[in-house]
Amino acid sequence: MESTEKNIAQRFLRATALEQSMDPPAAAGLEESLAAKPAAAGATVIPLPEPGLLPDVNVNFLELVELRSSIRQYSQEELSLEDLSYLLWCTQGVKMVLPNGDSRRNVPSAGGRHAFETYLYIQRVAGLAPGLYRFLAFDHALVLEAGKEEIEEAFLASFKAENMVKNSAVAFVWATIPGRMYRRFGNRAYRYLFLDAGHVCENLYLAGQTIHVGICAIGAFYDDKLNRVLGLDGEEEFAIYGATAGKM
Ligand SMILES: Cc1cc2nc3c(=O)[nH]c(=O)nc-3n(C[C@H](O)[C@H](O)[C@H](O)COP(=O)(O)O)c2cc1C
Repeated sequence: MESTEKNIAQRFLRATALEQSMDPPAAAGLEESLAAKPAAAGATVIPLPEPGLLPDVNVNFLELVELRSSIRQYSQEELSLEDLSYLLWCTQGVKMVLPNGDSRRNVPSAGGRHAFETYLYIQRVAGLAPGLYRFLAFDHALVLEAGKEEIEEAFLASFKAENMVKNSAVAFVWATIPGRMYRRFGNRAYRYLFLDAGHVCENLYLAGQTIHVGICAIGAFYDDKLNRVLGLDGEEEFAIYGATAGKM
């Protein structure tokens, strides 16, 4: 490793050590970040099939874990809206809203902060026009952010594995709003964000497998390009992880 790179990594670890983050900056007058980013006024909101009404999926858990693998090739078959609802429920679904507006979800999150927004580049989901959507976790609904033609070129060019994204039925991008986590944990929040993202994607792998939807995690994206096409400033909100999905 280059010595400068090593220094940056070491500085990050030192700056985010628990000893350095004893005083949460909550009292420092930081604005409380909203628990979820609302849909823009007048945006098209599409309710998803109720998670409670989705068919039960019975699995052999050990087999599920042992057979999980990254799938990079997909059939042309569409996902159903129920499939998408199920994948979103398993990855970011809100099980309970707490009195202070926080949530309990189907994934763990440090301090229950759930500092993610889920963006979906949808190409093959029955009943949905291809385009960029965002999951409204508290409403279990989608909001349309842009039509496919508006963003296709820039979106695909944001990934090293451009073809894998191009051939997927849905590409997930998890963006983080670090303020939600920072307010509680200070600099250490920047570790928890990346740890939390891992849990989300692992649930996507496992959930996908139970309904014959192949998944491949994506860490190799061009940060600036992807943030730009998603309309994120790269600081207050930035893309942290992604995954492709498609019928096997
Ligand atoms: C953090 C992370 C980032 C990854 N990024 C990519 C990626 O950008 N492109 C890709 O094709 N696979 C990516 N993968 C998938 C790995 O290559 C894959 O998990 C690994 O080769 C092991 O194979 P398996 O998942 O089938 O067990 C990523 C996996 C993880 C956990």
